[in-house]
Amino acid sequence: MKDKKQNFSTKIINNRFSKPDVHGAISLPVYRNSAFEFPDSESIAAAFQYKREDHTYSRISNPSIDNFESKIKVASNAENVISVSSGMAAIANTFLTVAYSGSNIVTSPHLFGNTFSLFKFTLAEFGVETRFVNTDNIDEVASAVDENTCAFFAELITNPHLEIANFPEISKIMKKRNVPVILDTTVIPWCGFDAGKCGIDIEVVSTTKYISGGATGIGGAIIDYGTFDWSANKKLARITNNPAGISKFMHKMRTEIARNIGSCMSPDTASQQALGMELLQLRYEKMSEIAWQLAQYLQTNNKILNVNYPKLDTSPYKKISDALFVGNPGAMLTVSLKDKDECFRFMDRLQVFRRATNLFDNKSLVIHPESTIYGTFSREMKAEVGIEPNLIRISAGLENIDDLINDIENAL
Ligand SMILES: Cc1ncc(COP(=O)(O)O)c(C=O)c1O
Repeated sequence: MKDKKQNFSTKIINNRFSKPDVHGAISLPVYRNSAFEFPDSESIAAAFQYKREDHTYSRISNPSIDNFESKIKVASNAENVISVSSGMAAIANTFLTVAYSGSNIVTSPHLFGNTFSLFKFTLAEFGVETRFVNTDNIDEVASAVDENTCAFFAELITNPHLEIANFPEISKIMKKRNVPVILDTTVIPWCGFDAGKCGIDIEVVSTTKYISGGATGIGGAIIDYGTFDWSANKKLARITNNPAGISKFMHKMRTEIARNIGSCMSPDTASQQALGMELLQLRYEKMSEIAWQLAQYLQTNNKILNVNYPKLDTSPYKKISDALFVGNPGAMLTVSLKDKDECFRFMDRLQVFRRATNLFDNKSLVIHPESTIYGTFSREMKAEVGIEPNLIRISAGLENIDDLINDIENAL
């Protein structure tokens, strides 16, 4: 057979375990254990000192978790991957690795609610400033960067605003200034975009969403493309001075930050999400197609004031969306109705769509972000993050499109 690069789903499904299963099991059994035994004291000492690659303790590594990370690695073509207990843990661990007291993060205020809160409040308490800028304005982004900027951060498509920054341009600026580009790519899996084209150095993902395979559990991943030269930025060069002296972001993450914070993924979750990943491309493409059909239908309904989906001609992000994303830009869309009461009345009448938070479940979901995800935010903060009370976020699932449209028509 000619040596030809395998395609996305084949790579994930055909990815072999690091060690063959003793019984030849075709799916890796779940390693539901905490500790690993060694034949002698020398070998356990060597494993703890990273002189041999053995599992010692499941907070640090575990075969089921390894298997999941290895599937993400082949799916993303990244240099290194670590999975953690949630998408928020992925973001928190990443910023505990790059940020330092006196540093700043340049980002948009249009972020998932907990990420905004992490930057605005939690990291601020540790002396990390967040500079919220309009990422549509490249000059504003560039002028916010200084010698203490530890990262540019953004969501690939903002949740729930559906904005898309010009990442190819922004990443060129960051490269010149030696600032890593860290993107949250939760809303589009790896078969839908090219990390190189977006200039991503480090990626954080909530695997709870597309990856998990039908919302089977909470999880997160941090992905290092190995593209950033940490030693070129004086303030970040400490990342290269990690205990083992190896100049790798992921080495610091694995040997210090992740194991000290302890937000590891559970082997059960890793096992379920590894299985979920095998159908990732199928689910993503089908859900995105349903989202696109829903967006077109919703535009024709005169009870809907506005439909937001990046592929629609009415979206100011259509051009960049078409340039960056393969096919349809994911399964998240939003609609605006007259006011909050109208939103609640509409949502309460739905029978196929579920009223639930989360994204990219097999089930179609609706949520009113202003009263839920951002429900505890002050009026000023809601204005800052750009959340309106007449907005409903929709996550398209895998039900039949006619049934979904029928449900919406009845509810309206
Ligand atoms: C864009 C984005 N990032 C991060 C998260 C957090 O993920 P998790 O709930 O797995 O912590 C979410 C959750 O909805 C999200 O939408």
